Amino acid sequence: MDILEKCRPWTAEHLRVTGRDCYFRAIGDTFDGTEADFEGRRVIVAASHDYLGLSAEPRVREAAVAAVRRFGTSMGGSRAVSGSLELHEELEHGLAAFLGHEAAAVLPSGYQANLMLAPLLGDGDMVFSDFSNHVSLEEAVRLGRAKERKFLHGDLDHLEELLRTADGIRNGKEADGNEGDGTGKDRTGGDGNGTGGKLILTDGVFSVDGDVCDLPGLMELAGAHGARVVVDSSHDLGVLGPTGAGAGEHFGLRPDLVTSALSKSLASVGGVIAGPADVIRYLRFHARTALFTAAASPANVAAALAALRILRAEPERRSRVLDLAERLHNGLRALGFDTGASVTPVVPVLVAGRERCMRMWRELFDAGVFAAPMVHPVVRAGREVLRVTLTAAHTDGQLERVLAAFAHVGRVEGVIPGSAPATHTPVRIARPRGPLTVAHDGRSTGAGTWRATP
Ligand SMILES: Cc1ncc(COP(=O)(O)O)c(C=O)c1O
Repeated sequence: MDILEKCRPWTAEHLRVTGRDCYFRAIGDTFDGTEADFEGRRVIVAASHDYLGLSAEPRVREAAVAAVRRFGTSMGGSRAVSGSLELHEELEHGLAAFLGHEAAAVLPSGYQANLMLAPLLGDGDMVFSDFSNHVSLEEAVRLGRAKERKFLHGDLDHLEELLRTADGIRNGKEADGNEGDGTGKDRTGGDGNGTGGKLILTDGVFSVDGDVCDLPGLMELAGAHGARVVVDSSHDLGVLGPTGAGAGEHFGLRPDLVTSALSKSLASVGGVIAGPADVIRYLRFHARTALFTAAASPANVAAALAALRILRAEPERRSRVLDLAERLHNGLRALGFDTGASVTPVVPVLVAGRERCMRMWRELFDAGVFAAPMVHPVVRAGREVLRVTLTAAHTDGQLERVLAAFAHVGRVEGVIPGSAPATHTPVRIARPRGPLTVAHDGRSTGAGTWRATP
């Protein structure tokens, strides 16, 4: 069969009939970060992860424009051979210090930042991944040669069982108690000398469910089983922790490596991986996904740098997005919606049913709200959600309009009852115990082992 044959049924009509035409929408010719013109209709954009509302912030836009004027639009090749700017290094130093690590590497996307992990994952190593991790972490494992074991989402008992089984195999015993081959050799298909390493991979905040990983539990298990921990902080950088440094700071812990997209709180496009200096150096020289790809553009680097400065200096933005998220969760819950286990600005509204999810997306769109539909395979069949995200730039009026649109559409679709339920369980958003503060290099959070490396 012609290799292109499989594409033929994917006509525009097929996309319309299956509801897939809700994806890949083009925003009109303006976007102020909160509203846009779609197909001649003004809609509130409630599907962006620009949590701090910085993509439309004049200081961020100006920094990008100034970088284009000074450095042009492209570095014209890979950083390894075509070079990069001091601007790239400045952003790397800034992010490393902010995340409490010695060093960082900046990549053209968050996806590529996660793929940087692949060279760490050799024969004989084992990776333990949360089932709900971002797909780019999954891809990093596929690119590497390590074996992967997935644990049920957030289920530390399951993870412990998998770690124990791996220890058992390494010690020459099968999980079921059978003796191994008596040589003590690794029987996981690895290098055969039983010395393979272990790595636990998790999102800090999960991108669909909006819940926070149990980092203390994960790090305790890692310590007990000699594993390392990597956290993808794409959805918690700028959102969690007293200074906004993410899940590690939220718990007062420092995972071995942190990755993040720059396209969310940092209002740019790019990615970062932060960790010990020798590890970051090694990865720069070994990760083909970074070696053989062009450097992040000057405009994107400058925008992220400007956004990082604002993020650190203006905790009120974080406070605003957390307040809005709490009101959004509780407003939806008061209407009878289920927002799952989320305690963050990622608000998944359960609609249950693929057809209904697509239909509701369209009805919300007609009512002036642009949300993000999540269906199988992103979520399990029957757990379809419309993900709603408001940013610090959204107004109270826009929040009220989003709630009114959901109330109307939810009733039409029978997702919520005709009148609001008498009670609901309120969500308490994940906030630091103390006040939100400005970030200074070399600061201590006073909590656990987390500290910034000056
Ligand atoms: C948790 C997580 N990791 C990584 C990425 C990839 O980031 P980027 O869009 O910059 O490639 C995303 C973005 O969707 C994400 O949500």
